[in-house]
Amino acid sequence: MKIIVANWKMNGDLRFVDKFIEEINSIKSKNIVVVCPQTALIGRFYNFHYHLGAQNCFCVENGAFTGENSPKLLKQMGCKYVIIGHSERRMIFNEQDDLIFQKWKVATDQKLIPIVCIGETLENRNNWKKVISKQLNLFLDKPLGNTIFAYEPIWSIGTGIIPADNEIISAFEFIKDLLGQRIPLLYGGSVDSKNARSILSFNNIDGLLIGRASLKISEFKKIIQI
Ligand code: 13P
Repeated sequence: MKIIVANWKMNGDLRFVDKFIEEINSIKSKNIVVVCPQTALIGRFYNFHYHLGAQNCFCVENGAFTGENSPKLLKQMGCKYVIIGHSERRMIFNEQDDLIFQKWKVATDQKLIPIVCIGETLENRNNWKKVISKQLNLFLDKPLGNTIFAYEPIWSIGTGIIPADNEIISAFEFIKDLLGQRIPLLYGGSVDSKNARSILSFNNIDGLLIGRASLKISEFKKIIQI
């Protein structure tokens, strides 16, 4: 059983949301399937058969923070998971490791399952060990509970470029050595129905974090049925 998470970056038509929910509900999967839509859509998933997650949360439980999303309310809206530190948050919104750690803490307090994203830019490709070690540093001496981590090389997100087999294998070995074998670790970056099975066959890979392919219903159906 693998953990298949859709980082569902859907900004289009509500009718597509309803069609997606209906079609995915009709499919059986032996995997843990999680869909993380943008916060505005979470209520629309009230009848979704699989798990629901958020793409981000605020670093404080609740309060007057106009425009931010309280982890406490996300939980009450039916989210079981929350993605934290996605590279788009790190790069576009300038989220730093300490803020990401704060978000992890508050999500954990709210009994949300955090999916913490890590990964290096193309520029830092040769320095990936250093980048990943820094991103993980605050987590290393903490009780990680049921936290999930996702390794997404930023140069692979949205590009169609997948790391070579040996790159994936050594990255997963390195990260699992730091975090401990027990902590689930997902791979993300240009996953589709054609490459999903072979990526999942590597040792140490507990699941996938999927962007674009989760927005194609036929693709996502194939992936969750692996
Ligand atoms: P793609 O699957 O589109 O490369 O996106 C990956 C991603 O951002 C998942 O978090």
